Amino acid sequence: MVRAWLAPFLHVAFAQAQYSTTPTGPNGTAPGDLNNAQSPPYYPSPWIDSSTAGWTDAVAKAQAFVRQLTLLEKVNITTGVGWEGEACVGNTGSIPRLGFPGFCTQDSPLGVRFADYVSAFPAGGTVAASWDRGEFYRRGYQMGVEQRDKGSDVLLGPVVGPLGRNPKGGRNWEGFSPDPVLSGIAVAETVKGIQDAGVIACTKHFILNEQEHFRSPGDFGDFGFVDAVSSNVDDKTLHELYLWPFADAVRAGTGSIMCSYNKANNSQVCQNSHLQNYILKGELGFQGFIMSDWDAQHSGVASTLAGLDMTMPGDSDFDSGFSFWGPNLTLSIINGTVPEWRLDDAATRIMAAYYLVGRDRHAVPVNFNSWTRDTYGYQHAFAQTGYGLINQHVDVRADHYKAIRVASAKSTVLLKNNGALPLKGNEKNTAVFGQDAGDSQYGPNGCADRGCDNGTLAMGWGSGTSDFPYLVTPLDAIKNAVAGNGGIVQSVTDNYAWAQIVSLAKQASTAIVFVNADSGEGFITVDGNAGDRNNLTIWQGGETLVQNVSAYCNNTIVVIHSVGPVLIDSFSNSENVTAILWAGLPGQESGNAIADVLYGRVNPGGKLPFTFGTNASEYGPDLVYEPTNGHGSPQDNFEEGVFIDYRAFDQKNITPVYEFGFGLSYTTFSYSNLTVTKVAAGAYTPNTGLTQPAPVLGNSSTDASQYQWPANLTYVNKYIYPYLNSTDLEEASRDPEYGVDHTYPEGATDGSAQPKIAAGGGPGGNPQLWDVLFTVTATVTNNGTVAGDEVPQLYVSLGGPTDPVVALRNFERLSIGPGKTATFYADVTRRDVSNWDTVSQNWVITNYTKTVHVGSSSRKLPLSAKLSF
Ligand code: NOJ
Repeated sequence: MVRAWLAPFLHVAFAQAQYSTTPTGPNGTAPGDLNNAQSPPYYPSPWIDSSTAGWTDAVAKAQAFVRQLTLLEKVNITTGVGWEGEACVGNTGSIPRLGFPGFCTQDSPLGVRFADYVSAFPAGGTVAASWDRGEFYRRGYQMGVEQRDKGSDVLLGPVVGPLGRNPKGGRNWEGFSPDPVLSGIAVAETVKGIQDAGVIACTKHFILNEQEHFRSPGDFGDFGFVDAVSSNVDDKTLHELYLWPFADAVRAGTGSIMCSYNKANNSQVCQNSHLQNYILKGELGFQGFIMSDWDAQHSGVASTLAGLDMTMPGDSDFDSGFSFWGPNLTLSIINGTVPEWRLDDAATRIMAAYYLVGRDRHAVPVNFNSWTRDTYGYQHAFAQTGYGLINQHVDVRADHYKAIRVASAKSTVLLKNNGALPLKGNEKNTAVFGQDAGDSQYGPNGCADRGCDNGTLAMGWGSGTSDFPYLVTPLDAIKNAVAGNGGIVQSVTDNYAWAQIVSLAKQASTAIVFVNADSGEGFITVDGNAGDRNNLTIWQGGETLVQNVSAYCNNTIVVIHSVGPVLIDSFSNSENVTAILWAGLPGQESGNAIADVLYGRVNPGGKLPFTFGTNASEYGPDLVYEPTNGHGSPQDNFEEGVFIDYRAFDQKNITPVYEFGFGLSYTTFSYSNLTVTKVAAGAYTPNTGLTQPAPVLGNSSTDASQYQWPANLTYVNKYIYPYLNSTDLEEASRDPEYGVDHTYPEGATDGSAQPKIAAGGGPGGNPQLWDVLFTVTATVTNNGTVAGDEVPQLYVSLGGPTDPVVALRNFERLSIGPGKTATFYADVTRRDVSNWDTVSQNWVITNYTKTVHVGSSSRKLPLSAKLSF
């Protein structure tokens, strides 16, 4: 992670290359015109709006808090103390004068990373398959409780970027689904859950961070230095696809958003004024704080003026001892480069999030340490100083294992069933196959950050992980189910032990084969996969294993643990493969959850949150695995627009193996009685008028002598402080270009009232976008003899030439008794039937004929009706 080319002289330099005055206008580029796309400038950075619904109390408290702070104290809560400087994966400085300990920010989106006595929840991309708002919320709440009770202030999740443009993207599983609506609903419920527990959610990674290769400058050293990949996207695709779930997260009140490593339209996202100032804080009305991904900040003043509010982990390179902020932020205020209101705004946004979720009531001191599980150790791990009690081993799991098991079982998707399932447990001879069925020989946490594929797969690898408290294997749970019924169960968990596999398969009356496919974050390479998958095949010879077992056993059940779709068409139609299940990455209760489904204790009701295809190319453009531009940013043009996953398959008329939204049950359902009722809603009015001027909360002295190192301070090696080490500002900056006359973007320091943005007006965007225009109902009947869950799904066809054939807009998971009916109710909002208009920079309802469809998957939509406006 060391990137030595980031010389300290960049600390206060404004990186001019990062904004453009090219007359692309606020619309950005148009589809098909993505080569070397530019990101237009937008300044000043919007300041917090104290009248925002839901935020008024929090903002008032935050402003009162910030008013009493000195310049150094304000800098301290915006700047991390440096990598491994304190207990958490990232910590800001503190305010000792007020007894304020600073912020602890901690991974991950599926549990507390780097800690013991915590739970391992199902991954985001797995719980998405439950299509269950209640499960999304409960998982978020319980993860929040665990973070809170360990003492963390900010949970670094949930994830909606990557969205999952290409299924090979290494971190897709951390997020929910390549569908923006499923992702949007999941992220909103998760944010609410986390924050109701009293912890700030940090929704990440904003934005277009769709691959691991070249995510940061210099990250893929095999090619020499290569700059960060640029995700080039047009304005319409940005709004209708990638921004959509972020808007939902903002509307749900996310206190923080993490800006991502990559460039977007050739501008580093953490200093991209169009994305941060205009889109996120302007149009979406985000009132919380933007935190950088770890070392994703690449400039001082430029990122400050472009809206960054907190830098993590604080140093410009891990443990360089230098920071773009810290002393350089102090300096930039006193030399007038950055107006103090911008720093005040950053500090206010951080404190507003703090009060919004009630950190003032919930905070417990941090009682764990990320860098060791030892009870005693160094408070400052990198500096190796401050020896003492650092891990109190507080057990924060409560009874979360129960909900984890329920959520994992509810997220299991039954893809094929020729009557083989459910099993009864009294099958004559059960054989279990696959390394994926059993324990890892290294233990469930044997590989750092889960960076290996050994034993059953229950999470991917990288920072999006936690330690397992235990991992119930499928083999253990199947043994439990069979042994109590007097059956026999044998297993072979070496995928290449052909002789034993064939011998056992021949004896089996029921064979259950477990296979997997893994991926993760790019700082770890597993089996040649540098984060992103190299292909969509099943790992460890799993496809051959299924073929061999099913050649000898005509009742072969396949269970897939994977980060996303895998290629299964070589066996999915085989008569001897009698059932197929996708169980995702289920977390600690993996075995129990799959056994619940296999043995009918739970009737499966999960639905695919993505599409299973026959070929990687069906999903659209490949990831960029090699430089396209010499040492410059590889250009990754999102030329497919909004057509990813099922929208791509539908557009190209490709028959998937299993489509988005598909999933079977042990009963069957039918659909009838579609009703569509128009609701009177007023006309859509653009947001107009002027904002308030920037609040002035402080007027600090510009006398450098007041910000010098305190005489009695003990320096912690490489720790980031806010102090200057000279009254000579040039010397203090350590910047050979200090004082060079840079051109700053027009308006960047202007704190006067600014025009409001037409599509804005409330958290997530113009509140009228959520006006209900139609209510839809349909009847769902359970035609079988057992109770089951069904997820009726509502899709729209917007009718235009650049619109998907169908696009998901709503769903509800219903439990229906045998022979009973239930009513599916769904609202259709203005946003649901609008397109982004790049010219008016607003949402519009086009004149194309619009249709609503209801059914059980993206390809099984028996009920349809035209919408009349
Ligand atoms: C980098 C990852 O991209 C981000 O998701 C994570 O929160 C930080 N590292 C901290 O571990």
